[in-house]
Amino acid sequence: MNAPGNPFETFPRYPPPMDTAKVRIRPAREVDLPAINRIYNDEILHSTATWDTEPWSEARRRAWWAAHSDGLQPVLAAETDTGRFLGFACLTFVSDKPGWRFTREDTIYLDPAARGQGIGRQLLAALLDEARRLGVRTVLASITSTNTASIRLHEHLGFQRVGILRNAGYKFGRWLDTCYYQRDLGEPPPGTPAWVRTPPRST
Ligand SMILES: CC(C)(COP(=O)(O)OP(=O)(O)OC[C@H]1O[C@@H](n2cnc3c(N)ncnc32)[C@H](O)[C@@H]1OP(=O)(O)O)[C@@H](O)C(=O)NCCC(=O)NCCS
Repeated sequence: MNAPGNPFETFPRYPPPMDTAKVRIRPAREVDLPAINRIYNDEILHSTATWDTEPWSEARRRAWWAAHSDGLQPVLAAETDTGRFLGFACLTFVSDKPGWRFTREDTIYLDPAARGQGIGRQLLAALLDEARRLGVRTVLASITSTNTASIRLHEHLGFQRVGILRNAGYKFGRWLDTCYYQRDLGEPPPGTPAWVRTPPRST
C-alpha cells in the first residue's frame, strides 16, 4: 500500500505513451521529483550520459531539490499540455567560491519517449533565459564525447567546445572522453542577482 502524500511511492514506473505535440516549459515543482528521479536513474543504469553508477535515492533527490531552491539554481520542467512530465533541466553552481558566482553548469534529461522532437532545444533555450535573468555569464556543459544528441543540442544553442578530457570517465567497461562546452552570455547587467548573491558555502 502506498503511503498517502509521498509522490515517490505513487509515481507510475512505466507511464503510457505521450503526446508531445504541445509542450510547455515551467518551473519544476516538488511533486515532479519522482519523475525527475525516474528519468535520471534510468539514464544512470543504461547510458554513459552521466558518470553516476548508482541510482539516486529519494533522500538524495530531496537534498538536491533543497539545494536548488535557493533562487540561484533554477530547475525547469517540460510537460505536455495535458500535464504529462517530459523532462527537466537545471543550473548548478560549479564552485562555492564567490568569484565563480556568475558561472553555472547545466543539466538536461528527457524521458526517452520525448527525445529527438525538439523538446531539448526548447528546454535548454528556456534555461539560458533563466541564466540571463539571474545575471549568469557563463553556462558550462560537460558532455561525454559519444553523446551526439547532447553535443548537437548544445552547439545548436550557441555553446562552443572549449576542451576535452581524454579517458576521464569509466563506465560499463569503457574509458570515455568528456567534452567541455561553454556558452558566454556576455557581461550581465548591473543589479542582476549574480552581482549581489554568492553561492552558499559548503564548508
Ligand atoms: C540530450 C537531450 C537532452 C537532447 O534533447 P532532444 O529533445 O532529444 O534533442 P532535440 O530534438 O532538441 O535535438 C537537438 C539536436 O540534437 C540532434 N539529435 C537529437 N537526437 C539525436 C540523436 N539520437 N543522434 C544524433 N543527433 C540527435 C537533433 O538533430 C538536433 O540537432 P540540430 O540542432 O543540429 O538539428 C536528450 O536526447 C536526452 O535527454 N538524452 C539523454 C540524457 C542526456 O544525454 N542528457 C545530456 C547529458 S550531457
